[in-house]
This record gives sequence, structure tokens and C-alpha cells, in this order.
Amino acid sequence: MCGIVAYVGSRQAQPILIEGLKRLEYRGYDSAGMAVLNGDVRVVRAVGRVSVLEERLSGAGGLAGTLGIAHTRWATHGGVSEANAHPHMDDRHGIALIHNGIIENYSALRTWLEEKGHAFKSETDTEVLTMLIGELYDPDNGVDLERAVQAALREVTGAYALAAICKNEPGVLVAARKGSPLMVGVGASEYIVASDPSAIVAHTTQAITLEDYQVCRLTPESFRTSTIDNVPVTPRIHELELELAQIELGDFPHYMLKEIFEQPASLRQTMRGRLDQREGRVVLGGVGQYARELVKARRFILTAQGTALHAAMIGEYMIEELAKAPTEVEYASEFRYRNPIIEDGTVVVAVSQSGETADTLAALHEAKDRGALALGVVNVVGSSIARETDAGVYLRVGPEIGVASTKAFTGQVAVLALLSLFLGRRRFMSHEQCSHFIAELERIPDSIQRVLQESDHIKEVVSRYCDRENWLFLGRGYNYPVALEGALKLKEISYIHAEGMPAAEMKHGPIALINDGMPCVFIANRGSQYDKVMSNIQEVRSRGGHVIAVATEGDKEILKHAEDVFYVPDVPEALSPLVTVVPLQLLAYHAAVIRGHDVDKPRNLAKSVTVE
Ligand code: AGP
Ligand code: GLU
Repeated sequence: MCGIVAYVGSRQAQPILIEGLKRLEYRGYDSAGMAVLNGDVRVVRAVGRVSVLEERLSGAGGLAGTLGIAHTRWATHGGVSEANAHPHMDDRHGIALIHNGIIENYSALRTWLEEKGHAFKSETDTEVLTMLIGELYDPDNGVDLERAVQAALREVTGAYALAAICKNEPGVLVAARKGSPLMVGVGASEYIVASDPSAIVAHTTQAITLEDYQVCRLTPESFRTSTIDNVPVTPRIHELELELAQIELGDFPHYMLKEIFEQPASLRQTMRGRLDQREGRVVLGGVGQYARELVKARRFILTAQGTALHAAMIGEYMIEELAKAPTEVEYASEFRYRNPIIEDGTVVVAVSQSGETADTLAALHEAKDRGALALGVVNVVGSSIARETDAGVYLRVGPEIGVASTKAFTGQVAVLALLSLFLGRRRFMSHEQCSHFIAELERIPDSIQRVLQESDHIKEVVSRYCDRENWLFLGRGYNYPVALEGALKLKEISYIHAEGMPAAEMKHGPIALINDGMPCVFIANRGSQYDKVMSNIQEVRSRGGHVIAVATEGDKEILKHAEDVFYVPDVPEALSPLVTVVPLQLLAYHAAVIRGHDVDKPRNLAKSVTVE
């Protein structure tokens, strides 16, 4: 979802901005651009990858200067074109602006600005904001770039993370945010503004996270932070936890494969310090102060989108089984608009890797406005959702660069298991039951390590099927959400159409799809519904479908009924998604590579959907 990088200091801006844009490419985009002030403001933009922008810059002789802004765009208003790419310029004062988000009242503002004589060159909402800043800019009467940005932001509705420069104000960089992420890296007589720490950490580990409605004015010698009403605020400088090595590819061909193979280590990190087997309890510092409210909660609502929603669906089963607390899952995009009933004792849990998903953040606001206690299960420290919940539990899986979520999914499931145990031990679980479950959780990383050894076998199987354009993924109980997740993984990186559903649901229509050789992936691990799943497998095979099964090590029966089998270790049913999902992650990965797609930056997708 778009990326912003801006620099003010004593070094040349262009190389810093290009390197920053490349660090943010994983967020997803369709075009890019840069503006540098050096006497005048020069702008270069290009449709496509950052590498195309680099070629354009080279062709233009490069942009010399120590103050600049750069942007990768994920189009919301106006098609993908050079004219719509950022930065946008106003028409009078040499003001250049880059923006992530949506200006919702852009149409009315555009009409007003056109009546004042402004001529627009793009279809974007961002150009409207740029022109509005230009219209309000009046340095002779004290309205400099900072004040003009503040004044303009008082007039707009919507979401923004922005950076602006002006020809008349050399050495001045203005940035602001509301609803879209923005950080300020604090260096030695220089500042780097960016959408996330990955574009900052190569230069400094000291950073400020801007809050909503805050504006900052940066020069090489100073910075000032205020609200859009020009009320000064004291920013909090914090240490970036991210290390460069965590966002480097290392020896892997793709971030997605690296992150799939990181899962044993990332889950150990998720659980570190949170499991006390001897005492038979889970320690969650982030929610401890709400333990009494949580134990007495009458209902839990888990809300999320995409892969995070699939993890939430597993969390629903876990909380109900281990804590015996009524739990439901809601698409955040549905929850926020359906006038939800939130009675006393309701706890809403927002599940999100990025902590910036617009729908999930909006659902969180809706729940809090109606009096719910709001928890977050989030990966990115200091993200909007993390900061706006009453309490929460971080995944601690490290930065997830691949657009297709893998280690964050298993991290979310593991955290929801910890939360279920945290509640269960305070409600109905005995010391012994909890200790046993903790011991099983601690064995999961080694179990995943064993599944990862199947990668070459999975690649060989996939090579025989990846020309098929329609797949089914089927599972029951805890593995029904895993079927959904497997289908999503395959869809989003190999562009093969895949549908996940409860295995029993197939008979209610989708079985009509089964034709000769259609790949049908069954999660058929040993569990309470194994026999039912085997019946479903028969139904598929008798109609010519090709069965690919995820099964429990030692299961020989499955070999009689499936063309191919991926074995996983035997783990408790409630924890089985942590191992059964891994073959499906690898299946999707190998299919995408064989089909020649960009695994880490699949078409049309963004790593974090920060717009509705
Ligand atoms: C997962 O592979 C997708 N990239 C997408 O569904 C993602 O899970 C969804 O957009 C939610 O993102 P979040 O976890 O950052 O909120
Ligand atoms: N709404 C703006 C546009 O369509 C910004 C989109 C983005 O966040 O990249 O250009």
C-alpha cells in the first residue's frame, strides 16, 4: 500500500530516496516518483517499478539537491498513469506533495479550487490537496508551508500520510499524518520521513512516530511538531527495534520462502517468556491489567481481514474450547458498517499483521465507541491498531516483507492460543491441563521444522498440477480456516483460482465443479472428524478429482485414497493449523515460482491495505 520517503539534511537526497523506495516496494504499488529542491523543484515520475523511475532519473541527468520527497503509489483516485503519479505540484508556488491515503472530500474541494482559477492535470485527490495548500500559502502574511499544510488539513476529511516541499523554502520539509502510518528518523543534522521503519533503519535507529493530526516541520538544524491547529506538541523519540539484517533477503530467493522457513524461530520468539509450564500458566504482560475484565467477559468478537481473519477463525475455536467463552469472528469491513450490537462484557480483538489495515482500524474504532474493551493481536510495534487498542499482544515474528502472509499467520494463531490459555486457566482449565497444552505448544516449532523438509517433495507434486486453473481446498473443524488460508495463498501469488470451504459444504453445490483431474486439497490430519473427511475424499475421487492430502505421519490408510500426501507430525487438534498450513504455504510458493510470477510483489496486491 504505497510508500513515502523524504529527506532533509546535508547529503544528496536522490540515492537515499531511491534506496528508501526499494525498502518499501514490498508494500505494493503501481507507479513511483521523486521531487528534489535545488533552486527549483524538479520532478521525475514513472509508471511501473522503482527501477523504471531510476532509469528516468538517469535519463534526466539525476536530481541534485539535499532536500527531496519520493513516493510509490497504489492508485485509489485516477488510473495508473504518469500524470497521476506523485509527487504532485501546485500551479503557483512550486509546492510538491506526496501522499498516502484518501482525501474523501476532494471533489467538493476541486470544484471550489477550479472556481478560483486552478487548472488540474491529474484525476487524483492528492493533486487537490496540493492545490489547496498552494491556495492557502501566503508567506507575506505569515502562512508559510507549515501553516499552509495545517490550514489545508483542517479542511479535508479522509486519511493521509504526506510530505511537502516548496521552492521558496529551501531546507524545509513538512510532514503530517492521519490514519496512514508515518515515521520520522532522527539523524545527525538530517531527518528521514518514511511510511515504515524499513526505509529508516539503515540511517538511524532513533525515530518519532507521528500521531494523528500531527504536523512536523523539519530542517537540518531543527524540528518542530504541532497539531493541525498549530498547537505545539512534544514528540517522543524511541529506539527502532528493527535491524537491517531482519529485512535483508539473505540466501533465500524470495522473502516469502525466507519467512516460511523462519516460522520455527519466529514462533519461538512469539512464545518466549510467555509460557510457564511449571506453574501451568501463560504470562501476557500486555493484557495482564485487564485479566479480571477478560475472565468475566461475556462475549469475544475477533475482527480482521484476509489471512488475519483466517487466524481469527481458528482463535474462535480455541477460545470456545479452552476458555468456554462465546466467541465470533467478523470481517472488519462488515462489522464497521452493520451497526453491531456491543453489550456490557464484550471484548473486541483486532487481529492484524501490519496494524494499519483501514477496515480493521475502523472496526476497532466502532467497537470502542460502543464501549467494548479492545485488544490487539498485531505484529508491527507502534502501529495504529497497536496504539489505539486498550491492550494487546505483539506477534514478535519480526518484519514480514512478503505480501503473502505466512509467519504472521502462524504467529497470530499462536498468540490466540496463548490468549485462550490465559483465559482458560483463569476459567476452567486445571494446572495439569494447561501445563500439558503448554508442553505441546513448545513442541510446535520442531514439528514445523520437520514439515519444512517436505519442500522439495511439495515442489515436485505442484509441478504436476500447476497448469490446472481451478482448485478446491477442504477441511473441517480447526482446519476449515486452514483450507481458506491455503486457497488464499494459492490465489494471491500464483493467480490460480482456488476456493476453500468446509469439507461437508462441498456436497451443497461446489461438488458440481469436480471434473477429471481437478486438484482437491484435503486437510486430513488425524482428528475428531478424520472419518468424515475420508468420506468427502471418496466423494471427490468417485467424480475424477485428484486428491492432494495433508495427513498425519504414520497414516497409511490415506495412501489408498489420495494421489499425493504431505505428512505433518501428530499434534493436538487445536494446534494442528500451525503445522497443516505449512505444506499449503509451500504449495502456493512453488506454484507461483513455476508459473513465473513475482512471489513477493504479486500483481494488484498491497502488503497493507490502508484504504477502504
Ligand atoms: C495475506 O496473505 C494478504 N496479504 C492479506 O489478506 C492480509 O492478510 C490482509 O490484508 C490483512 O492484513 P493485516 O494482517 O496487515 O491486517
Ligand atoms: N489517493 C491517492 C492517489 O490515488 C494516494 C494513493 C496512495 O496511497 O498511494 O493517488
